[in-house]
Amino acid sequence: MKRYKVLFVCLGNICRSPSAEAIFRKTVFDAGLNKYFHIDSAGTSAYHKDEKADQRMAAHAKKRSYDLSSISRPLNENDTSEFDMIIGMDQDNINGIHEFVRNEHELSKIYKMTDFCSKHDISYVPDPYYGGDAGFELVIDILEDACEGLLELLCNKLGLKKPQQQ
Ligand code: 4NP
Repeated sequence: MKRYKVLFVCLGNICRSPSAEAIFRKTVFDAGLNKYFHIDSAGTSAYHKDEKADQRMAAHAKKRSYDLSSISRPLNENDTSEFDMIIGMDQDNINGIHEFVRNEHELSKIYKMTDFCSKHDISYVPDPYYGGDAGFELVIDILEDACEGLLELLCNKLGLKKPQQQ
C-alpha cells in the first residue's frame, strides 16, 4: 500500500506543527501502523527556515517522550499536490495553505487540527511562542487529543486495523 501522506502546518514550523508531527508519528508507531504513513510538517512563513524546533517547545515535548527532530521549512507549491491531508493549527494557517491550492481536490485535503479533538472544546491550537510554560503544555494536550482522533479517522478511512485488533 502506498503510504498515506499527512502534513501538519503552523506559522513558524518550530512549535506547533513539529510537535504535531512528532506526536502523530509516535501515536502511529505505538499503534504498529508506521509503515502506512509518511508524516511531515511545514510553516506558512519562512521566518525560521532551516532552524531546529523551539527549545522551549522541545523541552516540554521531551518530558512526554516526544522527540522534536524536524528542521523548519516553508510550505511550497508541491505540498498541496503531494500530500493526502494538510492540517493547519489555526485559521490563519489554513488561509496560508489556501494560497497554494489550485483546484477543488487540493481544497478538499485541508483540515484544522482541532477538528479531530474529542476531549478539548476548542477551535484552534493557540500559538505558544510569546507565552509561558502553560501555553506549551496546552499545545501538547490538544495535539495528543487530536492525534488520537486523527488516527482513528484514518484507520476507518483507509481500512487499517491496529495489529492487536487483527
Ligand atoms: P509556530 O509558533 O507557528 O507554532 O511554530 C511560532 C513561531 C514563531 C513565530 C510565531 C509563532 N514568530 O513570530 O517568529
